[in-house]
Amino acid sequence: ARSGLNQRTQVLSDCRPSDAKRADVLAAYRHVRSETERLCVPLEIEDYVVQTMPDASPTKWHLAHTTWFFEKMVLANTRDADRFGPSQFDYLFNSYYNSLGQQFPRPSRGLLSRPTVEEVYRYRSMIDELVEEWISSSDRESFERLAPLVTVGLHHEQQHQELILTDLKSVLGQNPLRPIYRPTESTMLEGKVSLDWMTYPGGVAEVGTSDASFAYDNESPRHSLLLTPYSLATRLVTVGEYLEFMESGGYRRAEWWLSDGWAQCRQERWEAPAYWFRDGSEWKIFTLTGCRDLVADEPVCHVCYYEADAYARWAGARLPREEEWEAAASSEPIVGNLLEEDCLHPQPAVRPDRMPAQFFGDVWEWTSSPYTAYPGYRPPEGPLSEYNGKFMCNQMILRGGSCLTAAWHIRSTYRNFFPPSARWQFSGIRLARDAF
Ligand code: AVJ
Ligand code: FE
Repeated sequence: ARSGLNQRTQVLSDCRPSDAKRADVLAAYRHVRSETERLCVPLEIEDYVVQTMPDASPTKWHLAHTTWFFEKMVLANTRDADRFGPSQFDYLFNSYYNSLGQQFPRPSRGLLSRPTVEEVYRYRSMIDELVEEWISSSDRESFERLAPLVTVGLHHEQQHQELILTDLKSVLGQNPLRPIYRPTESTMLEGKVSLDWMTYPGGVAEVGTSDASFAYDNESPRHSLLLTPYSLATRLVTVGEYLEFMESGGYRRAEWWLSDGWAQCRQERWEAPAYWFRDGSEWKIFTLTGCRDLVADEPVCHVCYYEADAYARWAGARLPREEEWEAAASSEPIVGNLLEEDCLHPQPAVRPDRMPAQFFGDVWEWTSSPYTAYPGYRPPEGPLSEYNGKFMCNQMILRGGSCLTAAWHIRSTYRNFFPPSARWQFSGIRLARDAF
């Protein structure tokens, strides 16, 4: 009887964890895929097609590319892949995977009137049907092998959710009619939190991940390093503080700027963060929910690395190193003004002074760390080796997520990266200082 019972538990544990896991993967898949489409509900058809610059892509392209990702990374590796035949979209919606073939040139993505938006939505539902069927009824071996790739595909889709909104903001923001994405629903929180400093002792710190649940390859391996004592500002730099920098000649005096940054500042005639515009003698800002006056207490946003770095030097401080940020943030809860709050804009800090605030959400925080490999880093095998590793040059690390980042997507080890001149992302500033 005993061995019979054991046998039965054995059989149960053979299918149960997998069934529960299938249900989880299916729920996550449906949630993330439908969230993407929910973000597009306020759009008009014409909004889906425009591309303002090579860095940004049309919404239609994002919707198709994330779908192509599941087709190539999951469906194409299943046993009955030949059922689907070669993808009609391999060339158009391959972003940068050389191992998967050639790519339509990125700067020309806005020139594609076909496939139509409707066809792209149909492509999405066709792939959704196949992926959902595969999640529910694939054989065990196939599921164990490819389910992690579904998870990567979902995190990938969440990255593109943020890109859909940042790229759309660029489309709407350059239009003199200043169309809005949707009207404001939330009222701005009031908050006058003074700038305080939290000091961390430094010493041997452990950073990076060895987490068996999800993380990108560029977050591993976990490793130790030596940090000298440092302080971090307990909140983000505000619009009001940034205005002081501007008023003291921030954009007119070279002394606070890195050489590359100053050259670009002159060339592009920057005189304020992106999406600020003059209205008579006043500055206004364009947001996804409309144009309005500046709010002094909200975090400054849409500054590039050069502006963040220049501001920090003007303020007698510096930007945090990525490991300093991580060591401090790893004990903080993942709460903040993230995508689920639906504000679509950074909000003033509300935590009391002397408490670290805004580590997660609001704006991505520029760090002074170049995007390079951690000691012992190995890219994964296969096409996903091209996902992160090959970009480890000429970009800077940003931490913490923004008001467009899904809560499920962000963690203290997360390493975002953009070139130092990028301003269209929701990027801002937390100050740091040496404390020795
Ligand atoms: C990490 C945000 C720089 O925008 O290309 C999307 C995210 N990776 N598809 C990017 C990404 C693959 C990536 N960033
Ligand atoms: Fe992508």
